[in-house]
Amino acid sequence: MSLTTRRSCRFAAVATLSLMFLFGCSSKTDTAGTGEGSGADGAGKPVIGFVQTGSEGDWRKAHTESVREAAEAAGYELRFADGQAKQENQIKALSSFVAQGVDGIILAPLVETGWDNVLEKAKKRNIPVLILDRQVDVKDDSLYVTYIGADTYNEGRLAAEWLIEKTGGKAKVVELQGTPGASPTINRFNGFRDVIGDQPGIEIIASQSGDFRRSKGKEVMEAFLKKHGDEIEVVYAHNDDMAIGAIQAIEDAGKKPGDDIILVSIDGVRSAFEAMVEGKLNCTVECNPLQGPMAFEAMGKILAGDIGDMPKKQMIKDEVYERETAKDVIGSRKY
Ligand code: AHR
Repeated sequence: MSLTTRRSCRFAAVATLSLMFLFGCSSKTDTAGTGEGSGADGAGKPVIGFVQTGSEGDWRKAHTESVREAAEAAGYELRFADGQAKQENQIKALSSFVAQGVDGIILAPLVETGWDNVLEKAKKRNIPVLILDRQVDVKDDSLYVTYIGADTYNEGRLAAEWLIEKTGGKAKVVELQGTPGASPTINRFNGFRDVIGDQPGIEIIASQSGDFRRSKGKEVMEAFLKKHGDEIEVVYAHNDDMAIGAIQAIEDAGKKPGDDIILVSIDGVRSAFEAMVEGKLNCTVECNPLQGPMAFEAMGKILAGDIGDMPKKQMIKDEVYERETAKDVIGSRKY
């Protein structure tokens, strides 16, 4: 038996024990009838199926890269599925990973609801699922082991707190929401409103989804400008990509983004820092996409059965960055 095969067998034994502990004592049989019972790839590396939302913008690109790099560094085989912004694609990919009998699954869910059935399938096969970046709303939270991601509710709060400080609590705001039903959209919507709730001078005059995309952010902002014109004092965008799209629309309308209209958004991607250095974006609240290392550290523990003190939610801390100091920070940004 080769060293890698031995490692694979030892790994499988530890994993089986830990999964029996995690999900009960049913055995990991090939219920999908594919004939593939083990997730090991034959080269001794544990196999992880990663189901990504899609490739909607700069943040997502950095997120995918971080997961790929961390998988390689930690010695896993990563099978990647791009959901292409459709939940049905993500569900199919999850089912397929279950049928393949992978050792573990990482899911970045496009939207919050609708995962119960497919996660049940993974549970029945004793395949642990780690939820990454966005959250799921399921009836039984034993369907996944842990959630790792940013505190997107707090990001909405931080954006609102910054705005109150900046405007003295008086502003007419248009909001560019993210993908409908996605947890960061829901949380950034609620977090922002919970903070401005006691600020009668802050009024949201329009709110619409730009689907976390630059092109859609521009399109929706053009419509806002057409309808509300000079009334608009602030853009609150649920991500930087939509803010950059809005900046283009504002410029096309002959206005100065950052001065005529204040923009606050979320993510902290490089293009947002560049826009801040140019004076066109006023503030970005960080949402760190470099989640791969944390995900694989957790997956290692999960597969080793070491989950005794693993929290159900593991939140990454966010910082607020402003245009006044962006040039001092941009050099050290990693995404
Ligand atoms: O789920 C995180 C969000 O998804 C990021 O804020 C956004 O840029 C991405 O599309």
